[in-house]
Amino acid sequence: MNIKDHIRGVPDFPKPGILFYDISTLLAHPDAWQVAMGRMAREIIRFQPDVLAGIESRGFLVAAPLALKLGCGFVMLRKKGKLPGKTIRHDYELEYGTDTIEIQEDAIAEGQRVVILDDLLATGGTMAAGIQLLRKIGAHVTGAGTIIDLAFLPGKQRLKELDVPFTCLASYD
Ligand code: PRP
Ligand code: MG
Repeated sequence: MNIKDHIRGVPDFPKPGILFYDISTLLAHPDAWQVAMGRMAREIIRFQPDVLAGIESRGFLVAAPLALKLGCGFVMLRKKGKLPGKTIRHDYELEYGTDTIEIQEDAIAEGQRVVILDDLLATGGTMAAGIQLLRKIGAHVTGAGTIIDLAFLPGKQRLKELDVPFTCLASYD
Protein backbone atom coordinates (compact mmCIF):
# COMPACT_ATOMS: atom_id res chain seq x y z
CA MET A 1 0.00 0.00 0.00
CA ASN A 2 1.25 3.46 -0.88
CA ILE A 3 0.53 5.90 1.95
CA LYS A 4 0.62 8.76 -0.55
CA ASP A 5 -2.53 7.40 -2.20
CA HIS A 6 -4.37 8.32 1.01
CA ILE A 7 -2.91 11.79 1.54
CA ARG A 8 -4.80 14.60 -0.14
CA GLY A 9 -3.04 17.64 -1.58
CA VAL A 10 -5.17 20.76 -1.15
CA PRO A 11 -3.97 23.64 -3.33
CA ASP A 12 -3.82 27.23 -2.08
CA PHE A 13 -4.25 26.43 1.62
CA PRO A 14 -3.70 28.18 3.99
CA LYS A 15 -2.37 30.75 1.49
CA PRO A 16 -2.32 31.07 -2.29
CA GLY A 17 0.55 29.05 -3.77
CA ILE A 18 0.81 26.58 -0.87
CA LEU A 19 -0.07 22.92 -1.44
CA PHE A 20 -1.38 21.56 1.89
CA TYR A 21 -0.81 17.84 2.53
CA ASP A 22 -3.92 16.73 4.39
CA ILE A 23 -3.90 13.54 6.50
CA SER A 24 -7.70 13.66 7.07
CA THR A 25 -8.20 11.20 4.20
CA LEU A 26 -5.63 8.81 5.68
CA LEU A 27 -7.25 8.99 9.15
CA ALA A 28 -10.68 8.37 7.63
CA HIS A 29 -9.55 5.16 5.92
CA PRO A 30 -9.30 2.53 8.67
CA ASP A 31 -7.18 0.01 6.72
CA ALA A 32 -4.73 2.61 5.43
CA TRP A 33 -4.42 4.21 8.89
CA GLN A 34 -3.79 0.80 10.43
CA VAL A 35 -1.03 0.13 7.88
CA ALA A 36 0.47 3.59 8.42
CA MET A 37 0.58 3.16 12.20
CA GLY A 38 2.02 -0.34 11.83
CA ARG A 39 4.84 0.95 9.62
CA MET A 40 5.50 3.86 11.93
CA ALA A 41 5.59 1.57 14.97
CA ARG A 42 8.22 -0.63 13.27
CA GLU A 43 10.27 2.46 12.39
CA ILE A 44 10.30 4.08 15.81
CA ILE A 45 10.71 0.94 17.90
CA ARG A 46 14.40 1.02 16.95
CA PHE A 47 14.73 4.30 18.90
CA GLN A 48 13.73 2.27 21.99
CA PRO A 49 11.36 4.84 23.49
CA ASP A 50 9.99 4.85 27.04
CA VAL A 51 7.68 7.73 26.18
CA LEU A 52 6.20 9.19 22.99
CA ALA A 53 5.70 12.95 22.84
CA GLY A 54 3.07 14.38 20.48
CA ILE A 55 3.06 17.98 19.29
CA GLU A 56 -0.30 19.77 19.43
CA SER A 57 -2.47 19.29 17.60
CA ARG A 58 -2.01 16.91 14.69
CA GLY A 59 0.97 15.26 16.38
CA PHE A 60 -1.43 13.91 19.03
CA LEU A 61 -3.18 11.88 16.32
CA VAL A 62 0.09 10.09 15.56
CA ALA A 63 1.68 9.76 18.99
CA ALA A 64 -1.32 8.53 21.00
CA PRO A 65 -2.13 5.40 18.94
CA LEU A 66 1.57 4.55 18.63
CA ALA A 67 2.03 4.81 22.39
CA LEU A 68 -0.81 2.33 22.91
CA LYS A 69 0.65 0.02 20.26
CA LEU A 70 4.17 0.09 21.70
CA GLY A 71 3.18 0.12 25.36
CA CYS A 72 4.82 3.52 25.93
CA GLY A 73 3.62 6.51 27.89
CA PHE A 74 2.21 9.46 25.92
CA VAL A 75 3.04 13.07 26.70
CA MET A 76 1.56 16.24 25.23
CA LEU A 77 3.62 19.17 24.00
CA ARG A 78 1.03 21.94 23.92
CA LYS A 79 0.54 25.47 22.72
CA LYS A 80 0.87 28.18 25.39
CA GLY A 81 -1.57 28.28 28.31
CA LYS A 82 -3.31 24.95 27.76
CA LEU A 83 -1.68 22.74 30.39
CA PRO A 84 -2.60 22.85 34.09
CA GLY A 85 -0.08 22.91 36.91
CA LYS A 86 3.60 23.78 36.66
CA THR A 87 4.88 23.89 33.10
CA ILE A 88 8.17 24.48 31.34
CA ARG A 89 8.10 26.49 28.13
CA HIS A 90 10.27 27.08 25.12
CA ASP A 91 9.93 30.14 22.88
CA TYR A 92 10.89 29.80 19.25
CA GLU A 93 11.09 31.95 16.14
CA LEU A 94 8.48 31.86 13.39
CA GLU A 95 8.77 33.49 9.99
CA TYR A 96 6.99 36.49 11.55
CA GLY A 97 7.18 36.69 15.34
CA THR A 98 7.59 33.97 17.95
CA ASP A 99 5.62 31.08 19.39
CA THR A 100 5.71 29.06 22.60
CA ILE A 101 5.44 25.36 23.34
CA GLU A 102 4.88 23.90 26.81
CA ILE A 103 5.11 20.67 28.77
CA GLN A 104 4.15 19.79 32.34
CA GLU A 105 7.31 19.88 34.41
CA ASP A 106 6.80 16.39 35.85
CA ALA A 107 5.74 14.81 32.53
CA ILE A 108 9.05 13.05 31.96
CA ALA A 109 11.60 11.67 34.41
CA GLU A 110 15.26 12.66 34.00
CA GLY A 111 16.96 10.50 31.37
CA GLN A 112 13.80 8.83 30.01
CA ARG A 113 14.04 7.94 26.33
CA VAL A 114 11.57 10.00 24.32
CA VAL A 115 10.56 9.85 20.66
CA ILE A 116 8.87 13.01 19.39
CA LEU A 117 6.10 12.74 16.79
CA ASP A 118 4.13 15.02 14.52
CA ASP A 119 2.09 14.65 11.33
CA LEU A 120 4.41 16.68 9.13
CA LEU A 121 7.93 18.11 9.00
CA ALA A 122 8.24 21.34 7.00
CA THR A 123 10.81 23.93 8.12
CA GLY A 124 11.44 21.84 11.23
CA GLY A 125 10.83 24.83 13.51
CA THR A 126 8.06 23.10 15.46
CA MET A 127 9.93 19.82 15.85
CA ALA A 128 13.19 21.56 16.81
CA ALA A 129 11.32 23.54 19.49
CA GLY A 130 9.79 20.33 20.83
CA ILE A 131 13.21 18.69 21.03
CA GLN A 132 14.70 21.67 22.83
CA LEU A 133 11.81 21.73 25.30
CA LEU A 134 12.15 18.01 26.00
CA ARG A 135 15.87 18.45 26.57
CA LYS A 136 15.17 21.30 29.01
CA ILE A 137 13.31 18.89 31.29
CA GLY A 138 16.03 16.27 31.08
CA ALA A 139 14.58 13.91 28.47
CA HIS A 140 16.85 11.89 26.21
CA VAL A 141 15.36 12.45 22.75
CA THR A 142 16.31 9.30 20.84
CA GLY A 143 14.36 9.93 17.65
CA ALA A 144 11.75 11.92 15.76
CA GLY A 145 9.08 10.81 13.33
CA THR A 146 6.36 12.19 11.09
CA ILE A 147 3.99 10.81 8.49
CA ILE A 148 5.01 13.44 5.93
CA ASP A 149 8.31 15.18 5.18
CA LEU A 150 8.45 18.16 2.84
CA ALA A 151 11.92 17.39 1.56
CA PHE A 152 12.29 20.71 -0.28
CA LEU A 153 12.33 22.49 3.11
CA PRO A 154 15.19 22.32 5.63
CA GLY A 155 13.43 20.30 8.36
CA LYS A 156 15.59 17.20 8.15
CA GLN A 157 18.75 19.33 8.19
CA ARG A 158 17.63 21.02 11.41
CA LEU A 159 17.09 17.67 13.08
CA LYS A 160 20.53 16.53 11.93
CA GLU A 161 22.03 19.65 13.53
CA LEU A 162 20.25 18.70 16.76
CA ASP A 163 21.61 15.18 16.40
CA VAL A 164 18.19 13.51 16.45
CA PRO A 165 17.59 10.64 13.99
CA PHE A 166 14.44 11.08 11.90
CA THR A 167 12.03 8.79 10.12
CA CYS A 168 8.95 9.45 7.98
CA LEU A 169 6.47 7.48 5.88
CA ALA A 170 6.00 9.77 2.86
CA SER A 171 8.49 12.30 1.50
CA TYR A 172 7.51 14.99 -1.02
CA ASP A 173 10.01 16.82 -3.26
C1 PRP B 1 1.79 22.17 11.24
C2 PRP B 1 2.15 20.70 11.24
C3 PRP B 1 3.43 20.67 12.04
C4 PRP B 1 4.08 22.00 11.68
C5 PRP B 1 5.16 21.81 10.65
O1 PRP B 1 1.13 22.46 12.46
O2 PRP B 1 1.12 19.93 11.89
O3 PRP B 1 3.17 20.64 13.43
O4 PRP B 1 3.04 22.84 11.15
O5 PRP B 1 5.75 23.02 10.28
P1 PRP B 1 7.26 23.38 10.55
O6 PRP B 1 8.10 22.15 10.31
O7 PRP B 1 7.54 24.45 9.52
O8 PRP B 1 7.36 23.91 11.94
P2 PRP B 1 0.25 23.74 12.71
O9 PRP B 1 1.08 24.76 13.38
O10 PRP B 1 -0.40 24.13 11.42
O11 PRP B 1 -0.84 23.33 13.77
P3 PRP B 1 -1.82 22.08 13.99
O12 PRP B 1 -0.99 20.82 14.11
O13 PRP B 1 -2.45 22.43 15.29
O14 PRP B 1 -2.80 21.99 12.84
MG1 MG C 1 1.07 20.76 13.89
